[in-house]
Order: sequence, then structure tokens, then C-alpha cells
Amino acid sequence: MILIKNIGQLVTVGGSEPKKGKKMNDLNIINNAYLIIENDKIIDFGKINKLENLSKYDEIIDAEQKVILPGFIDPHTHFVFAGDRSQEFKMRLKGIPYIEILKKGGGILSTVKATRRASYDDLLNQSNKRIDKFLSYGVTTVEGKSGYGLDKNTEVKQLKVMQELNKRNDIDIVSTFLGAHAVPKEYKGQSEEYIDFVINEVLPEVSEKKLAEFCDVFCDDGAFSYQESEKLLNSAKEHGLKLKIHADEIKNTKASELAGKLNTVSAEHLLKASDDGLRSIKENNVIAVLLPLTAFSLQEEYADAKKMIEMGIPVALASDLNPGSSYSQSIPLLLSLAVMYMGMTPEEAITALTINAASAINREKEIGSIKKGKKADLILLNTTDFNHLFYNFGVNLVDKVYKNGRLVFDNDLNKRKTQKEDI
Ligand code: NIG
Ligand code: FE
Repeated sequence: MILIKNIGQLVTVGGSEPKKGKKMNDLNIINNAYLIIENDKIIDFGKINKLENLSKYDEIIDAEQKVILPGFIDPHTHFVFAGDRSQEFKMRLKGIPYIEILKKGGGILSTVKATRRASYDDLLNQSNKRIDKFLSYGVTTVEGKSGYGLDKNTEVKQLKVMQELNKRNDIDIVSTFLGAHAVPKEYKGQSEEYIDFVINEVLPEVSEKKLAEFCDVFCDDGAFSYQESEKLLNSAKEHGLKLKIHADEIKNTKASELAGKLNTVSAEHLLKASDDGLRSIKENNVIAVLLPLTAFSLQEEYADAKKMIEMGIPVALASDLNPGSSYSQSIPLLLSLAVMYMGMTPEEAITALTINAASAINREKEIGSIKKGKKADLILLNTTDFNHLFYNFGVNLVDKVYKNGRLVFDNDLNKRKTQKEDI
């Protein structure tokens, strides 16, 4: 058993359901708290009165009045990829639109080329580094999508990489099949035929081998239409997969309305969602996953989180890490953008990256808040006030990360490497 004592702010977040409206502001903070871990679970926590019988603990950790939060959850990433699109980034800086680059065979299709070529081991090693980086930012569970294969072998290769990394690493990985991420060059101009190929050839194998828990689709201009997306998602549902959708990112194609109609677990991006689309999401309890780093990188207007929260939509946040529209996994930048440009309060942003993010991947009963019986996935910050996550913007304040009750990242060890006597 491990006791963490002397916690200045225990940000429990609380609950095992997605939070909506005013509840998103309620972080259920306990000042001067303790927390007890047994094996991989949180078994108790509360205000420090007098801690008795200290001899029963295998380890006692002094939090030195600092902040403890639930581990962050990143519910939308594309972290398994090969290649580099920095030249494309420079083109975008000159004003060439993201979707134009894709239509000319670059963009997602350029990453597809590199990912097809990469060996399984190469892909595994590159992706593993990204996982380590996530942990250092306090992310203890991450969703990852395929979608850089667009053929059966490479889609399966990507999903197997995620499966293997999930086994090998401390971080938990939730896999999503995104075979309909773009129309591959073999099917140029034949998006319907490609959707049929995905439905008939790839989806059955993904489902049979249990390679993914969710199915996602890029429903947008330059990718897949409303009808194509609906057809694919319906088939995925029949195969037992849960549904997600990249909705109204580049243009409004009524993808948010489709999310509501199909009752997907989440709808992601929503930069161009209409009021009707948002109403459809709200009425069907779809989680809105917003991606501030993508809007920043695409230099687009941010999603209106404030409006969505006021409407009663549960809002989550994610990095969207990918080599094109959001080549960053900076949780500090993500949090700052959410409060500076999306109208979120610091409390709402924390809720969005914990319990609501857990809900976006159907894990709200196990993670996303500090609650008895939940996994001991915790972040210890190097500060005494969680507001410093926003006030001290762009800086990683994560000092230690515990996953399933085990210390998996320790900034002190990193620091020591830079001290003279160790060089
Ligand atoms: O979420 N929009 C589609 N997918 C990613 C971008 C992928 C890429 O550019 O490689 C996104 O923005
Ligand atoms: Fe994405």
C-alpha cells in the first residue's frame, strides 16, 4: 500500500459520467489531502486529520503541499505514422490550404506513402517515442487511430503496432480504425468504391482479430461524404465497433448531424459545425472532442467551446497529434489555447482533459477522476496551485506520473541528468 500525504490540492474532478454545463466547473478539490493506493487502484483519499498506523504502508510519499490530478487522457491522436511533412508546413505558412495539398496527392497521402514503406519495427520504435513524450506530459491513456495505410496490410500493421505498444508500455492505448481517412491513390475519384473495399475487405478482419475498439471516418470536403460515412459507420456498428467521427473540420458537411443521427460516442473537431449540428450532438449525448492545437496549426478559428458548454454538450479536449494538421503533443499549449481562445475556464479545461476525455473513449468508469476503485493514474505537479497550468503557460509542470499505482515518469531523474557530476 502507498500513502501520498501532504497534498496541497487534490483535484479529484469526481464522478464517473461525462460532465455537462456548470458541472464542468466543479473540480471537487480537497485541500490538505491524503490518498491511498493499493495495487493499481485508489482505495481511499480525503482531508488529512491525523494519519494513524503509518507502519502499514509499503511507501509513504510526501507531496510537499503540491497538486495531484487524475492522469490526463488524450482521446484523439494519430500517433502511429512514419515520415515528415515539414515542407508541407512551409507551404501552408505561405497560404496554401491544407485540403488543397491533400487534393494534389500530398497531406495525408504523403504520410500514407511513408507509413506503407516503414517496417513494422520502425513504426513501432517511432511511435514508442511519442508514447514516452505523452507520459512526460502526464497523459496516462491515449487513443490512437490507423488511417495512414488505406490498404489492408498497412492498416493492420498500424493497429498491431498499437496493440504491441499497449502491451509493452505503462500507458493505456485505445485503438481506433480509421480506414476511411482519405481516398488512396489506387481509388482516386472512386471514393464510394473505396468505402466498399473498406467495408468488405478490411473491416471484417479488424473486427475478427479485435484490432480496434472504435471506428472513425473523416467526413469532410476532400475526404468522405455524409452518405459514404453513414454507410461505413453503420457497417462498423454491425461489426461491433463503437463509433467516432471527424466532423465539420474543414467544411460543414452536416457531419455533426450525422454524429447525432448515428449516436456516435464522440464527434471531433467541430470547427465548422452549425447550430443544427450542435443541437443534434446535444440531443444524442455525443461528446464533443475539441482540438485546439489543430485550429492553431491550421490557423483556423477555434471551436466555440463556451457556446457548446452553455448548450449542455459535454466537451473534451485532445491533441490530435499527427504529422500534418497538428504536429504537437504539447498538453501545456493545448490547455493554454483552450482558456485563452475557446472561452473555457481552467476548471472546464481540466474536466475536458480528464473525465470528459475518458467518456469520449468509453472509459469513464475506470479513469478520468480520483475516485475509490478507479485506477491509480495520477499526476503530481511541481506547483501548489493547479491554475499555474494556465498562468505559467506553455511550461510542463508535470513532476511525477503514476500509472496503475506505479511511478512511470519522474522529472527529478531527468533533471539529474543535466547536473555536472553525472556528465
Ligand atoms: O484530425 N482531418 C483528418 N485527420 C487529421 C489530419 C491528418 C493528417 O493531416 O495527417 C486531423 O486533422
Ligand atoms: Fe484527427
